Formats: sequence, structure tokens, C-alpha cells
Amino acid sequence: MTVFYFTATGNSLYVAKTAGGKLYSIPQLLKDKQFNFEDDVVGFIFPIYGFGLPKIVQKFLENIKFKSTYTFAIGTYGNMHGPCMYNLAKYFIKKGWRLNYADTILMVDNYLPGFEINNQLNTVENKRIDKHLKEIVDNIKNKKNSIPAATIMERIFTALVHSLVSKLLDGKSAQQYIINEKCNKCGTCGKVCPTGNIEIRDKITFGNVCESCYGCVHICPQNAIHLRNEKSDIRFRNENITLQEIIQSNNQK
Ligand SMILES: Cc1cc2nc3c(=O)[nH]c(=O)nc-3n(C[C@H](O)[C@H](O)[C@H](O)COP(=O)(O)O)c2cc1C
Ligand code: SF4
Ligand code: SF4
Repeated sequence: MTVFYFTATGNSLYVAKTAGGKLYSIPQLLKDKQFNFEDDVVGFIFPIYGFGLPKIVQKFLENIKFKSTYTFAIGTYGNMHGPCMYNLAKYFIKKGWRLNYADTILMVDNYLPGFEINNQLNTVENKRIDKHLKEIVDNIKNKKNSIPAATIMERIFTALVHSLVSKLLDGKSAQQYIINEKCNKCGTCGKVCPTGNIEIRDKITFGNVCESCYGCVHICPQNAIHLRNEKSDIRFRNENITLQEIIQSNNQK
């Protein structure tokens, strides 16, 4: 089994590791321009952004060529997934591919302008992540065939959200971040950035290819990076995933 994944704070990597198989980081495959794959089972695992795919995952799908007999996709999310997986299945059809199984899994929401991480952590048990994850892994093993449905209203609403989000997330978002005096130029933010958008010299500077993944904001060991509109200054990394694993997944330098 071959699994392609993208992660900023570890949730999607935790799901990918639990699913098993040979794992490939999408940012690294894009960097190495490695796009040809063939395996019996192929899977895609990623966080849901704005009820849709992160731009980096969309870009990978536009480039990859693969052959498989069974294909699945899992979106990790923190609050509402919208018709993300329904739309992905439609995209697969447009490409001439077949998505056999698509599912979503509710985890900690790392969207700092919307959610307070302490609240997320206090309620995480209710999400029964490991129980749902086991069901999903069993479904993949049993080669389940199912794609979630979406109502017309959900699809219209999501199309509106997408056009708004794509205007807001123009790649320059990180240029609005505030770096405070705690920054000791350790370089970690640059290593966890999936697009190589961060330069660390006399000061930290952000380029114009930001995914708004908040990886740098959550992972900075000094908690020195802040959004102007964050709900709190508490940060998150999935407890089963190490800093080194996030660096290996995303480092572009
Ligand atoms: C820019 C951005 C947009 C997000 N949009 C959504 C969303 O539409 N719905 C949702 O439930 N969670 C949303 N989230 C939360 C993430 O999907 C969720 O926390 C995910 O599990 C993070 O995965 P990761 O740890 O692998 O990066 C968003 C997070 C970010 C950073
Ligand atoms: S990770 Fe944090 S402390 Fe390290 S260089 Fe980046 S902003 Fe500074
Ligand atoms: S600059 Fe920060 S938020 Fe933007 S893509 Fe890089 S790690 Fe993610």
C-alpha cells in the first residue's frame, strides 16, 4: 500500500502512520518532482482547509500519475468537513480516476483564528479519535467502497466559502504574523514549512507561497510566532508525532 500525506501539526501523519503502508510526504514529492506511482492500494491523507483541499494537495493531484486497483482518501478535520470528500470524488472522475473509499476523521482543530486549543484538548476525548481511526483502517483493509454524499445547499455554500477563502489565502498570509522577542533564530519554523516560505537571517521573513497551514505558528519551540486574530496563544502538535517527523515531512531546504 502506498500512502501520500500532508500534515502541518501531525494529525494527518498520525492517521497515515496508523493506516500503514509506504508513506510519502506530498511536500517532499513536489520538491523532488516525483509523480509516477503504481501499487495495489493507493491512499491520500490530508487536513481539510475551508471545507476543501489544501492548495499543496490540489497541486500534487494535478501532477501525480498513478495506477492502483483500490484508492482511498481520508480528510482530517476539527469541526465541519463540508462536501470536501464528495467534491474530491468528482475531481477524480474528471481526471479519469476512481476513488473507491473516502472518509473524514474529527480531530483537534488547529485553526487558530477560530478555535482555542485548550478547549479543543479538553474535549478531544469526546471525538473518540482512536475508535474512528480503527474503523477507517478496517474499512481500508476490507476495501470498502463508499463516498459520502453532499446536499446541493452544502455544495453551493462551499463554493462561496472557497471563493472567499482563495481571495484571503493569497500566499502572503504569513507576512501578517507577529514575531515576538522570544525568537532565538533556532530555525525550526523554516524546517517545518511545507513550501520553504520562511527565511531566517537577522530577522524572520515570510515569502508569498504561504499555505496558511499554521505549522510554523504551532511548532515554534519558543511560541514566538503569533497571528493578529488568534483565539489564544496555546499551541498544538499531535501528541503521537515528533517534531523530527514534522521536519522530515515538510523541510524544503
Ligand atoms: C487554514 C486552515 C483551514 C481549516 N479549515 C477547516 C475546515 O474547513 N473545517 C474543519 O473542520 N477544520 C478545518 N481546519 C482544521 C484542520 O483541518 C485540522 O485541525 C486537521 O486535523 C489538521 O491536520 P494536521 O495536524 O495534519 O495539519 C483548518 C485548519 C487550517 C490551518
Ligand atoms: S521557530 Fe520560533 S524561535 Fe525558532 S527561528 Fe522560528 S520564530 Fe524564531
Ligand atoms: S509560512 Fe508558516 S503558515 Fe505559511 S506555509 Fe509556511 S509553515 Fe505554513
